Amino acid sequence: MTLTVLGIESSCDDTAAAVVTGDRRVLSSVVAGQAALHADFGGVVPEIAARAHAERLDHCVEAALAQAGVTLRDLDAIAVTAGPGLIGGVMAGVMLAKGLAAGTGLPLVGVNHLAGHALTPRLTDGIGFPYLMLLVSGGHCQFLLVRGPEDFTRLGGTIDDAPGEAFDKVAKLLGLPQPGGPAVEAEAARGDPAAVALPRPLLDRPGCDLSFSGLKTAVLRLRDQAVAADGGLRQGMRADICAGFQQAVAEVLAEKTRRALALAAVPVLAVAGGVAANRAIRAALEQVAEAEGVRFVAPPLALCTDNAAMIAWAGIERFRLGHRDGMDLAARPRWPL
Ligand code: KG4
Ligand code: ZN
Repeated sequence: MTLTVLGIESSCDDTAAAVVTGDRRVLSSVVAGQAALHADFGGVVPEIAARAHAERLDHCVEAALAQAGVTLRDLDAIAVTAGPGLIGGVMAGVMLAKGLAAGTGLPLVGVNHLAGHALTPRLTDGIGFPYLMLLVSGGHCQFLLVRGPEDFTRLGGTIDDAPGEAFDKVAKLLGLPQPGGPAVEAEAARGDPAAVALPRPLLDRPGCDLSFSGLKTAVLRLRDQAVAADGGLRQGMRADICAGFQQAVAEVLAEKTRRALALAAVPVLAVAGGVAANRAIRAALEQVAEAEGVRFVAPPLALCTDNAAMIAWAGIERFRLGHRDGMDLAARPRWPL
């Protein structure tokens, strides 16, 4: 009999529950986003997020079980994100998971949210170890050499903003809607990246570390210059800035990925995170993988962004290693892999 595991995720601004099996079937994956709740504040407000998680988690779990066509009695374990993330949200998830475990007698497995992202290509594509994972989202940016379900080596990452955060801030600077990534990508399609000069941060330095805050500042300067010269931001100029910014991010990510692949010497490059949805960035990464002779794996977007199926799956991987948590499972705001 294959395992059937319930996953619970509430570490940022998505409340999620999912049921996944040991033979890699996602029986359900319910995600209740909170974008509308935080829209007026220009970022995720921890207190609002925690309340929303507390209000919605039980409904999400109910819906995930119903959509999967199972009851608590059919489960073999309960997996929950125990960090890293916004502590109020993580606590809400961990408390619910503990309550369910105590009430049913099911084993409880605490999962690192980043491990959830990093192990997703094993759920979606069944890839073996080792592989290189590039995690690029609104909150994360790192290269992970993945050698086992609990064996992660960080080869590098951002020293300031995550790329998704940079896309969101650039959108705000240019008067585009949030989330900024898709808006900037759409605008970039009408622009000419060669029309503006933007830096390629940290490219001159060895290693796989990245930086995006300087790029954002350079965009601010371009915008101010354009406004001063034309009395406002012309549509064409906005498109050119978006195209130039997107190309700079794609080039930097591609070059650092090439270096990480050289370091890791693995047969697969996998990506996860919302920024992996960007077509220009995805194409640049695919090109690097092809040039380096490695397979490129990108899970479907719904499993690339925050979800609970990845938590259930990481729980299954840990469960198989014999990992169990007790009622002393702690919610951890910081939890490096
Ligand atoms: O993985 P995700 O849903 O959430 C976390 O940050 O954990 O990623 C969301 C981020 C946002 O910053 C959003 O602007 C960015 O991913 N994003 C994109 C695109 N779609 C989403 N960035 C660039 N291009 C896109 N098409
Ligand atoms: Zn995430």
